[in-house]
Amino acid sequence: MSNIFYAPGKQRAAKVNALFAAIARRYDWLNDLQSFGLHRRWKRRVAELAAAGTGARALDLCCGTGDIAFALARRGAETTGLDASPQMLEVAAARHFKSPISNLKFIQGDAQDIPFPDNSFDIVTVGYGLRNLTSWEGGLDEMFRVARPGARLIALDFGRPANVLWRKIYFTHLKISVPLIGWLFCGNAQAYTYILESLKNYPAQLAVAEKMRQLKLANVRIIGLLGGGMAINYGEKPR
Ligand SMILES: C[S@@+](CC[C@H](N)C(=O)[O-])C[C@H]1O[C@@H](n2cnc3c(N)ncnc32)[C@H](O)[C@@H]1O
Repeated sequence: MSNIFYAPGKQRAAKVNALFAAIARRYDWLNDLQSFGLHRRWKRRVAELAAAGTGARALDLCCGTGDIAFALARRGAETTGLDASPQMLEVAAARHFKSPISNLKFIQGDAQDIPFPDNSFDIVTVGYGLRNLTSWEGGLDEMFRVARPGARLIALDFGRPANVLWRKIYFTHLKISVPLIGWLFCGNAQAYTYILESLKNYPAQLAVAEKMRQLKLANVRIIGLLGGGMAINYGEKPR
């Protein structure tokens, strides 16, 4: 049976919103469990690559509960975290309230229709977001549009390991262990079967790099993590 939370096409936005509304409160905790805490390291890597510094303007799309946005802001960038889900943003706001940081704000919005003019940001990041959009290519086009010449565009997401054996093992983990953990600790297995479902419909790191090249980004590269099971795509908007 195809996952109720994932169905290609325009209706996906409502399904994805329902999914994140359902899991928002436990999202951070489950991320830690399911990735053995490694997602924190990968997000730090994104912030390092972004070379965020004082004075830089950064936009983190699909910011969720704010991990990457916080990391960019702590490095000094004037950071905006944008997400479609009020429930995920509520968690981000609660974290912000606990650890206030003046150069960080969160807004609700659509990553496919970013409410900022062209050439606005020095850094545009997205973590585990492109895969959820109705059109990941449209998301990258928007990232490109709001990036200033010379800006860094960075996308972190699940990947497709090139090694066939590792891919099988990894996809089995996503198919069985990840929903099992979701069921045990969140009472919601279905929300977590969507990771594999969405990944089946998302061409991952190689296609994102190809699209970055089509956009004529400079220094396009893929930073493979976990044997390609995760990946960071990096590129710079030409000056
Ligand atoms: C898997 S979470 C990632 C959260 C965070 N970036 C992280 O790495 O922990 C995906 C996020 O994308 C958001 N999202 C999905 N579609 C979106 C859209 N069209 N515009 C903005 N945010 C969206 C969801 O609400 C959710 O918070």
